[in-house]
Formats: sequence, C-alpha cells, structure tokens
Amino acid sequence: MEKPMQEKVAFLGAGNIAKAIMGGMLKKGVSPSSLFAADPSQNQIAALPSGVTGFSDNLKAIAQADVVVLAVKPNTIAELCASLSPTIGNRLVISVAAGIQSGTLQAGLGASVPIIRCMPNTPALVQAGMTGLFATSNVTDAQKQSAENILSAIGLLEWFPRESDLDAVTAVSGSGPAYFFLVIEAMEAAAVELGLTPEVAHQLVTQTALGAAMMARDSTDPVSILRNNVTSPGGTTAAAINSLTEDQIPAIFARAIASAHKRSIELANE
Ligand SMILES: NC(=O)c1ccc[n+]([C@@H]2O[C@H](COP(=O)([O-])OP(=O)(O)OC[C@H]3O[C@@H](n4cnc5c(N)ncnc54)[C@H](OP(=O)(O)O)[C@@H]3O)[C@@H](O)[C@H]2O)c1
Repeated sequence: MEKPMQEKVAFLGAGNIAKAIMGGMLKKGVSPSSLFAADPSQNQIAALPSGVTGFSDNLKAIAQADVVVLAVKPNTIAELCASLSPTIGNRLVISVAAGIQSGTLQAGLGASVPIIRCMPNTPALVQAGMTGLFATSNVTDAQKQSAENILSAIGLLEWFPRESDLDAVTAVSGSGPAYFFLVIEAMEAAAVELGLTPEVAHQLVTQTALGAAMMARDSTDPVSILRNNVTSPGGTTAAAINSLTEDQIPAIFARAIASAHKRSIELANE
C-alpha cells in the first residue's frame, strides 16, 4: 500500500482540474486536512470535497501549504504570480496552466522559486489522465517526488528534460482526447447509418475503443501487429482498413498533430 502523502497542498483555483486532482488524491487515501483551496467563487468553495479547507484569499491558502498548485486559466496566471511573489518563499509551485512557460512563471514569482510545469489532459477527471512534466533547475529530487505524489492521483506521468517537449505533449496527449472523441463520433454516426440505435452505437463504439486502447497499452506486440492480427486478407476489417489507408489516415493525423504543435508554440509566445 502506498504511503499516504504528508505534504500540505494549496490549490489556487478550485475548478475542474483542481477538483480532479483533489478527488484523485482523496481516493488514494490522502487526508483532506492536508488539502487547501482558494477561489474567488463561493460556489467553487462550496463544491470542494468534504474536509478540504476553502478560502477566498489565495494568501491564506498558501500560508498553510508546502506545495502550491496554480490551477487558474492561463490568462490570469501572470497577475496571480505577481500577487504571490512577496509570500511564496521557497514553496514548490506546480502550474497546470496550458502554454504558460516557466520563464513567465519565474518572472512573476521570483527567480529562486522551484517551479514544475505540467500538461494534464481531461481524462484526469476520471483518474485516467496522462500528464507531461517539466522541472526548472531549482527543483530538488524530493520536490519532484512531491509532484509525482500529487499528480499520480489523476493518471500516468512522464517527465521531459526540455520544456519545449511540452508543446509536443500538448499536441499529442493534451489535445488528444478530442481526436479520439471525433473518431468515436464518426464511428457512432456510421453505425446509426447502418440502422443501429444511437444508444447501441454508443455502447458498441465506446467499448471497442476502450478494449482496443487496453490491448494497445498492455500488449508486448507493436500495435501494427495487433492490427494485422485482426485483418484477414479479403475480410471485413481489411475492407475498412484499405478504405482508411486510401483516405490517407496516417497523413491526416500527422498534419493534425503538427497543427496542434505549431499552435501550442504560438500560444506560448503570445
Ligand atoms: N480541465 C482540464 O482537464 C485541463 C487540462 C489541462 C490543463 N488545464 C489547465 O488547468 C487550468 C484550470 O483549468 P480548469 O478547467 O480547471 O478551469 P476552471 O474550471 O475555470 O477553474 C479555474 C478556477 O480558478 C478561479 N480563479 C480565477 N482567478 C483566480 C485567482 N486569481 N485565484 C484563484 N482562483 C482563481 C476561477 O474562478 P472564476 O471562474 O470565478 O474566474 C475558476 O473557478 C487552466 O490553466 C488549464 O489550461 C486544464
């Protein structure tokens, strides 16, 4: 059994992602008395998990904490960092804000503050997220471990040595759930065209997506072998795969992900 985490963690911004992380931590056995959250919205405070202490004042929340998670929208981060800089001290700061570079965070908070940037994705809401992480040079190994203790509550983690890799993470796993949702929508629509009800189409497609993802994740064979294993020459799967290949599915995805990568770099520099 994993040792319960001892750090006290303050979430600034108590919206979707903060609640997802707190919910995952509580499920893992972290005591709610070690979690604090601040948000200007009383509704968000009222919706905090039971036992988590809520504040309307960010500084009161961070006064309680060893680790501070910045979970506000990217457009409010700079102002937030400036307001924290006099009191942040040497607390570890973890930012989940998409596209906000560590240089921007460091400029607001102070050059010596240890900062970890991360890019989670929406399956974090069901503890099946994929999070890419980057640590600035001020971050100690013990602080990296703290970040892992916190963020492993929402899924799998991967560290990246270069901050620029987070643009690729954004393009692949950050935006990736939407690509799969689009494929699911398209397959469901095709199933309805064949006369199935929307409910049945939804069940067939989502369970197939889940099963295929589990096989792809857990198999020791490359995914191309798994695909070949279910594609008999002249069969039904071959008919569909030939059609998808003729329509250049790999090139379509390569272009889409390159577009997301380019946009991530642009947004970080806006
Ligand atoms: N949701 C995801 O799955 C996901 C995935 C990857 C990255 N992220 C990142 O996570 C961050 C938060 O996203 P979210 O979806 O959780 O947003 P959200 O649900 O809108 O939550 C943000 C909360 O922060 C509050 N807030 C605004 N200014 C604040 C301040 N100065 N101090 C404290 N709280 C403040 C907001 O209140 P008001 O609404 O009253 O302004 C809101 O309740 C974003 O930067 C996003 O890029 C989210």
